[in-house]
Amino acid sequence: MAGTTGLDQSKIVDIDLGGAAFKQNAWTHLAQWAQSEPFYVPAEGGTEVVCGRYGDAQEVFLDTERFSSELPKGRGFEKFDKYMGIQVLAQTDGAAHARIRKLLMPAFSSSSLTRLEGRITELVDGMLDAIEGRAGDSFDAMRDYGAKIIVGALLDAMLRLDEAQKAVFLEFHEVLPLTTYVKAGEPYPEVCVAALEKARDMVDRIIEERRARPGDDFISQLISARDADDKLSDEELFNQTFTVCGAALSATTRSMGGMMFALFSHPDQLDILKNEPDLMPMGIEECLRFGSGGYFTFPRVATCDTEVGGTKIMKGMIVRPSPQAANLDPKVFADPLRFDVRRNPKRILTFGAGPHLCVGNRLGKMAATIAISRLVQRFPHARLADPAFKPQYGGAVGELRIGELPMLKH
Ligand code: HEM
Repeated sequence: MAGTTGLDQSKIVDIDLGGAAFKQNAWTHLAQWAQSEPFYVPAEGGTEVVCGRYGDAQEVFLDTERFSSELPKGRGFEKFDKYMGIQVLAQTDGAAHARIRKLLMPAFSSSSLTRLEGRITELVDGMLDAIEGRAGDSFDAMRDYGAKIIVGALLDAMLRLDEAQKAVFLEFHEVLPLTTYVKAGEPYPEVCVAALEKARDMVDRIIEERRARPGDDFISQLISARDADDKLSDEELFNQTFTVCGAALSATTRSMGGMMFALFSHPDQLDILKNEPDLMPMGIEECLRFGSGGYFTFPRVATCDTEVGGTKIMKGMIVRPSPQAANLDPKVFADPLRFDVRRNPKRILTFGAGPHLCVGNRLGKMAATIAISRLVQRFPHARLADPAFKPQYGGAVGELRIGELPMLKH
């Protein structure tokens, strides 16, 4: 893997991209990245390149010829194989990627989303009832709400899993971030391997059941998905069910935390949305710009010696575009650290760009819009328990996942 010999030494930044110290100061770093040329980070296994300016990140997202999502497997690359060997759509390129995406898309069509909207609203209202019913005035907007939204929207409304099946999926989702911290040559933590096996058995059983008795759920849709004579093989069906859910659970949970924190830590902006509810779609877009919760997407690997934004990149280097830094680029978003629900930001990179643009972007945005609008309507005086609250960020390398968000209801 690539070292630092022959590189512009002034562009080497010694920083632990997944470390707690980095995460706690992430906003300072991200705002700097948004204005810096791509730079090198010596990492376990080889030098990585971080692209934070909007144009640089976008260039990497769009050019799958030079920047492939198909990372090598094996020693030194264990930490990038988040799903421990399962073929992930986000790490497949070219014709194979386009084919699977085409087969997946009907499950994310407007009519599929319209069918889900009412069910998601009901589930969200049920969660708010439970918060209302809790003794005392305090609640945890992450544990009691944000982290549950996609569980309801996806596992319940979209996949129609029962409680035991949901628990298996969530257990897997809980330990998954650990795989992104595995060092070269180390095995995956036992707890991840065990959770994967349990989830694998469960998904296999569900596919079998739905094949025998198809319903109007996502898995049944995938089973019957056809493009001319083409359809998903059993292996692909398993991989997609598994990894689409993984992508949805981690991304939506961390985004819900980032979005709620952005909004509730700016009470003046929250008041604007309460007084002018028509601004909500614009406000949600600003929440997504400001608090996407992910500072990296899946990494890319350079397929040739090349250059981005004035920085040399050698074949084989890991390249990390940062959507969250790009969303703070002052050349694209004026005064980017100002949270402004009237901003109406265009072309945010929260859902990536190019061929790997998030397939669930409309579903994720719909679930977040329902969740935030209903929370504000139901508890118009809801606020952070401590107005100066500073979140502790956890999650995988690349994620800023808020664990707790203590709030008051009234
Ligand atoms: C607010 C919530 C969400 C955010 C911020 C988000 C973000 C992203 C980003 C940035 C990517 C691009 C990854 C890359 O280029 O390496 C992506 C891809 C993906 N997302 Fe999401 N996502 C969200 C919700 C969802 C949901 C709800 C689903 C499914 C139900 C989903 C499924 C996927 C899949 C399958 C991919 C891979 C697409 C491909 O490679 O073609 N995401 N997401």
